[in-house]
Amino acid sequence: MADLEEVRQRIEQLRTDIRRYDYHYYVLDQPLISDAEYDRLFRELQELEERYPQFVTPDSPTQRAGAPPAEEFGSVEHHIPMLSLQNCFSEDELAEWADRVQRMLGPAEVEYVCEPKLDGLSVELVYMDGAFTMGSTRGDGRVGEDVTRNLRTIKQVPLRLFSPDGPPPRLLEVRGEVYMEKEAFRRLNREREKQGEPLFANPRNAAAGSLRQLDPSVTAGRPLKLFCYHMGRAEGIEIRSQAELLTVFPKLGLPVNPIWKLCRSLPEVIAFYHELLRGRDHLPYESDGMVVKVNDFAQREVLGEVSRAPRWAIAFKFPAEEATTQVRDIVVQVGRTGALTPVALLAPVELSGATVSRATLHNEDEVRRKDVRIGDWVLVRRAGEVIPEVIKSIPERRTGGEREFTMPDRCPVCGGPVERPPGEVAHRCENVSCPARIKESIRHFASRRAADIQGLGEKLVDRLVDSGLVRRVSDIYRLRKEDLVALERMGEKSAQNLLDQIDRSKGMPLARLIFALGIRYVGEHLADVLAEQFPSLEALSRASYEELLAVPEVGPRIAQSVVDFFRNPDNRRLIEELRAAGVAVEAGRPVKGPLSGKTFVFTGALAGLTRDEAGKLVEALGGKVSGSVSRKVDYVVVGADPGTKLARAQELGIPVLTEEEFRKLVGR
Ligand code: IVH
Repeated sequence: MADLEEVRQRIEQLRTDIRRYDYHYYVLDQPLISDAEYDRLFRELQELEERYPQFVTPDSPTQRAGAPPAEEFGSVEHHIPMLSLQNCFSEDELAEWADRVQRMLGPAEVEYVCEPKLDGLSVELVYMDGAFTMGSTRGDGRVGEDVTRNLRTIKQVPLRLFSPDGPPPRLLEVRGEVYMEKEAFRRLNREREKQGEPLFANPRNAAAGSLRQLDPSVTAGRPLKLFCYHMGRAEGIEIRSQAELLTVFPKLGLPVNPIWKLCRSLPEVIAFYHELLRGRDHLPYESDGMVVKVNDFAQREVLGEVSRAPRWAIAFKFPAEEATTQVRDIVVQVGRTGALTPVALLAPVELSGATVSRATLHNEDEVRRKDVRIGDWVLVRRAGEVIPEVIKSIPERRTGGEREFTMPDRCPVCGGPVERPPGEVAHRCENVSCPARIKESIRHFASRRAADIQGLGEKLVDRLVDSGLVRRVSDIYRLRKEDLVALERMGEKSAQNLLDQIDRSKGMPLARLIFALGIRYVGEHLADVLAEQFPSLEALSRASYEELLAVPEVGPRIAQSVVDFFRNPDNRRLIEELRAAGVAVEAGRPVKGPLSGKTFVFTGALAGLTRDEAGKLVEALGGKVSGSVSRKVDYVVVGADPGTKLARAQELGIPVLTEEEFRKLVGR
């Protein structure tokens, strides 16, 4: 018996620990333990529960998935109706709303909480005595669908609330949004495309489709997330304002969006709206506006609701990301790998606050799949920083004059032959010296996330290639001032600025250099991964297929592409030329060591070693050496007869080391 009690206690302990690890991993994104350690604990719990099924409870972390599919969803009544939000689209409309609020509340001070509006699916989660007992969709606001078993599979949904001090609330109805991050959505669609399954139109549809699955194991495999932002009934817990709710929920283990702001005036609200709008593209999820809510719950009571939307909240929408317009023509663009991309030329339309007149159609198969014809009305969309894209045609609006698009069999830029390699979706121009390909590779090389050569923009690349000054990427390192000045519209000063930028780029970090080369399938992230594994471009270029395959995240397709790239004689010549031009192809990534991130300055003569030797010692331990003293310097090492650098260091309060102290630090 004592044994059974011990087992029960061990099971409880494991559950408590795993819940805490889950919370740190899934909600805070700050894992406390390694994956291996977590798996070990999880397996131990699973095994104990298998051997002692009498101890299995529905709120155990092992019970997230695995329930059999349902015939249909049951319906659930929301005790307090789930309302919708009124929208507004301008600062004037927002001000009108705020005026009405203020008028209804009299002289009382009104504070607002502003949050990003999430574009997902709203749900209600019911917690009784801390246990998750029921989850439902919004439905028509009064009656929703019972998706309890599906919600249980979402790792961010706590199956049991934390209640560090005292018992958990008797009842808490939590409301929030189930959503899918943009990147996860893209990955899911890529996977579905491979499997030949229909694609989801946007992350919201993907989230809704994933949550409303009769088989919870399907939901479990979908990357859904949750943010909580509201509550229904509550007993045994008192929350008086939105700011309090957003502070208390995380303590209960409920995920809330960390982005929110308590504003004390309308101008503050508006300023925050612009901040969110500017940052919108960088959010990992889609947001279609900002929700402004009266902070104080007592004031909300006074305001009440009209036509199923509260008066105390409003959604201030962002400019639309989707619009309909007409396709005037479909042209073909040639990219740096020679891939031919059909592009729709559109009747200009407002999208996310910008005028859009082109949208990508990706490839010929996509044009067929979406059945887009010249003259068609289409739905276009701009998601994040991505180029606008044609989502679908609207065949109902056809008049009969529309024309189908066919891929040309000659490159529209150089007239060279076009091939579609077996197994690939893209048609390619096979001519390696096609000017379009050269221009695109140079643009890519010079782009912000690659060599970051400011001033080498689209138009200048055109002129450099068209004038014959640049025939390949390495030629940009051979440009002379007189060549540039001879170009139309290029002054002495901008020529010099450009040359300085080009010169500076020679020291770009390895990851950027790898990315800049434009190796197929090697995007920014993979370039980082490769730069972590190989000390130099030289080393990477000598890596075998097997060595590459051993790198985490590198699969056969990428490994082969890297090997092919460095085998290609043109690319080898390119790297040789980059080296000759002084680009750091051999320089390794900065060494990680005890002095990583520390900068040293030397002044005066050292007795036992030369400046050069001292510098090498610092670098070998991961530090850097600088020639001048600034606030960024961590140590100034002083020898005999120090110069003004010592005085400057003292002025800035930078630690000064004697030669002996320095030797101790570097272990010499
Ligand atoms: S508060 C009605 N906050 O937008 C008051 N709703 O278009 C309770 N939504 O039904 C909702 N983000 O599903 C609130 N930060 C947020 C939200 C949000 C998205 C959804 C919610 C609502 C819908 C109305």
